[in-house]
Amino acid sequence: MVAQGVLWILLGLVLWPEPGTASLPLRMEFVIQALGELEQKAPETEARSRASTWLLSSQDTGPHDSLHRFVLYGQGLKAMELDRHLLSTELRDLMERVAHHGVQGGQEYGVVLAPDGSTVAVQPLLAGLKAGLQGRKVVDLPLNSTGPLQDATTTFLDVGATAPEVRATSPRLTATSPDVTFPDVEAASPDTKATIPTSVDSLLAVTLAIDLGLTFLQGPQSHPGLGTEGCWDQHLAPQTFTLLEPKATPLTMAFLNGALDGALLGDYLSRTPEPWPPLSLLLSQYYGAGVAGEPGLRSNFRRQNGAVLFSAPTLAQQVWGALLLLQKLKPAHPQLQGMSQDQLAQMANHATKEFTKAFLECPAIHPRCRWGAAPYRGQPTPLKLPLGFLYVHHTYIPAPPCTDFAQCAASMRSMQRFHQDTRGWDDIGYSFVVGSDGYVYEGRGWDRVGAHTRGYNSRGFGVAFVGNYTAELPTEAALRTMRDELPRCALRSGYLRPDYKVLGHRQLVKTECPGDALFNLLRTWPRFASDVKPRAARRASWKPRREPPPILPATDPQ
Ligand SMILES: *[C@@H]1O[C@H](CO)[C@@H](O)[C@H](O)[C@H]1NC(C)=O
Ligand SMILES: *[C@@H]1O[C@H](CO)[C@@H](O)[C@H](O)[C@H]1NC(C)=O
Repeated sequence: MVAQGVLWILLGLVLWPEPGTASLPLRMEFVIQALGELEQKAPETEARSRASTWLLSSQDTGPHDSLHRFVLYGQGLKAMELDRHLLSTELRDLMERVAHHGVQGGQEYGVVLAPDGSTVAVQPLLAGLKAGLQGRKVVDLPLNSTGPLQDATTTFLDVGATAPEVRATSPRLTATSPDVTFPDVEAASPDTKATIPTSVDSLLAVTLAIDLGLTFLQGPQSHPGLGTEGCWDQHLAPQTFTLLEPKATPLTMAFLNGALDGALLGDYLSRTPEPWPPLSLLLSQYYGAGVAGEPGLRSNFRRQNGAVLFSAPTLAQQVWGALLLLQKLKPAHPQLQGMSQDQLAQMANHATKEFTKAFLECPAIHPRCRWGAAPYRGQPTPLKLPLGFLYVHHTYIPAPPCTDFAQCAASMRSMQRFHQDTRGWDDIGYSFVVGSDGYVYEGRGWDRVGAHTRGYNSRGFGVAFVGNYTAELPTEAALRTMRDELPRCALRSGYLRPDYKVLGHRQLVKTECPGDALFNLLRTWPRFASDVKPRAARRASWKPRREPPPILPATDPQ
């Protein structure tokens, strides 16, 4: 790790030689290295927690400051001083660059590239570690003190007295919050008095709950693309991260990743008896092959682990509690001051539902830029969404399943080269490819006609498992992704029809694909369609239409 670090430092200096701009690449390895350096050089006692605390204390200037202080230092704990000059200049510079998360001008700051290919916001990650080191406390809310809470309750009583039953499903707006509307809220709590939170979980509050609540406070229109992805300028020495949706709110994919990682690792620390492993070791395991003794605790599977860690009702209650706390704390949050408990509860429910349905229960998809895709050649044909089919393939070559980011990304690039250069197609043929590393890799994606199932490419998505599944099966996790997660979220986003069917490639085209073992399993899936008559289906769907003139020689087998 140290040798590798030295190498990266050298690389960084070579690639950014101008004075003043020589910066370490924004990679998780260096955050881990910074922790390791502090752990080595700090005095024996309390070295670990002090190291992380130091790193964190540099971040306590953000908008959630008062809440972090209340939740984390409220029990008599203070930020401990640690000489920041224990860190080398480069690492100190790196930590200062990544300590604050933010989104500005289409770029995201405070994020690093992790070894699993995901991008992670450092701030919520470190906040979770800190909360875990302090033992994941239940912090009582200052509910009985006078102040903004009383005002809000009064507002609620004034406005709501006329129609208490209606309030549960269509929240009334107060004059102080004219822009707040919450359509499509389910599980609204009609009796807010009975369930009003009296405490918050310190770990969930500082990692996720407060940001989730505050983002949705702006109203549903102002959070386009919850979990927006982005692209690094380059992968060896990443420096800038540009969002794919320029108007994204701070609740980006990288933030959600960091918040989940912080919550999961904080939870691990809080339930692991001391002595704890050094944080540098814990993080390198978590972002590598998995935490010792708990190999499933691995960044690649953060969503599945997160879904186990907190249920939607628990999280909604935590979001509500965090908002309530913010309402009480100084400096006052203007938008929160006018809101009733009912509105806070509805908003917490809505935010939690979006987070759960659009992120936690969806597969993690690496965008094209992440695996180093070459550009599409020619003019893509748009799909007419939603589609009615998922065609399941195996890649056959590469034959071995890919189990980490480097392997899976290399598989994607080699398939794209083969499809573009040898086959002469416009792009990698598949719509999506499922690795055995916990990730889905974007091929042509949801919007473009693929080249995967000759004669049927415009009617369904072609989705492949990396590997040869003639005699073996993909991992259980990969199977679940294909069978449950990907279609569930495609359905929710309007890419798949509600009555969609799953077919094996061989049902439509003369081929062994997707392999005997996998195809036999497919037959047992609930959406599997056994009664396919390829030719009839093809004829029924065929409509004469004028093709746009090809810009490159007609390439894809349509
Ligand atoms: C807050 O006030 C209520 C009723 O006024 C009381 O029952 C409750 O115990 C108080 N809670 C705290 C934390 O003081
Ligand atoms: C795929 O697996 C089958 C069964 O194990 C084997 O016979 C075949 O050679 C494999 N193909 C490749 C390309 O590895």
